[in-house]
Amino acid sequence: MTAFIPVNEPVLDGNERKYLNQCIDTGWISSEGPFIRDFESRFADRVGRRHGVAVCNGSAALDAACAALDLGFGDEVIMPTFTIISCAAAVSRLGAIPVLVDCDAATWNMEVSAIESRITSRTRAIMAVHIYGLPVDMDPLLEVALRHGIKVIEDAAEMIGQTYRGKPCGSFGDVSTFSFYPNKHVTTGEGGMILTDDDATAERCRGLRNLAMKAPRRFVHDELGWNFRMTNMQAAVGLAQLERLEEFVQRKRRIFERYSEQLAGIAGIGLPVPSTDYAANVNWVYGVVIDDSVPFDADEAMGRLAQKGIGTRPFFWPMHEQPVYRSMGLFAGERYPNAERIARRGFYLPSGLALTDDQINRVVEAVAEVFA
Ligand SMILES: Cc1ncc(COP(=O)(O)O)c(C=O)c1O
Repeated sequence: MTAFIPVNEPVLDGNERKYLNQCIDTGWISSEGPFIRDFESRFADRVGRRHGVAVCNGSAALDAACAALDLGFGDEVIMPTFTIISCAAAVSRLGAIPVLVDCDAATWNMEVSAIESRITSRTRAIMAVHIYGLPVDMDPLLEVALRHGIKVIEDAAEMIGQTYRGKPCGSFGDVSTFSFYPNKHVTTGEGGMILTDDDATAERCRGLRNLAMKAPRRFVHDELGWNFRMTNMQAAVGLAQLERLEEFVQRKRRIFERYSEQLAGIAGIGLPVPSTDYAANVNWVYGVVIDDSVPFDADEAMGRLAQKGIGTRPFFWPMHEQPVYRSMGLFAGERYPNAERIARRGFYLPSGLALTDDQINRVVEAVAEVFA
């Protein structure tokens, strides 16, 4: 039996071990170590932002970012239905309301042309979520936000190393967030980052991640925060990873190109868009969408691939179809056909940085057998 190919495996053979040893040798294992500041400032520099606030994961980054913008009861935030629940949860936990738009059938990103018709007097922000490797078309989104005087939250969790029209993703939002889960181009195990140019927002996020502790009297609080702190050990790993970002972007590009070349001849599956006029795909994950003519869906294809030793993941499940939101009475009767289709017919293949050419060949062989 040949070894199972996991959907993701990170590459950790740079300075990770050396920096982690420094944490242990110096005793700096909590969030108060020197790697935190270093990682924050280098990551912010890389994206061209003034402030970086490291947190414990990308979902927490969204929670703190939304709270820092003072979103509250009845406020509306326009976002894609095709995204991870962290986006909608960050909004609805504050009593604000996610207002949804469909995604584009080809790029899987939010339909920017649908945003303006969803704006009301209660709209406070647009949450732009870049999906799977291609960015949202930011220029028209920013233009609408500016014209209506509403904020932009940019979820760039999947876009480390990506640009939109030559400018780094994560540089567009009033607040922008990232994730460093092990399937990201830069990992810290678990981790996240908030970026902003605004001094007050950065300060507020720093407070919110640390239980809203405040000088001069520790343990006296003006508001409720969270413990969202990143440890020095996580930042140590992140710093070592960040040193190799350009190499990782290239490595993912090669994986993506190899898949696309070899899968091109297989009928029945749609492959990811390699580029648009505003960005080349940064290839976070290699997503495929099964043609409507194929008599089975993604669940069936993933099951058959698992039997052949290939790990996969389903696409996101749309927010308007989430049981938790249905039971809250949200999104009743709303339909977003592109998101509904790709949620049922889309999944992604092993896409980690450690993927070898031999493994890619085996994945392609298995996909060819499933779709024969
Ligand atoms: C678009 C997007 N936002 C937020 C998150 C949440 O990040 P985390 O898993 O670090 O909480 C993810 C996770 O992959 C994501 O893909």
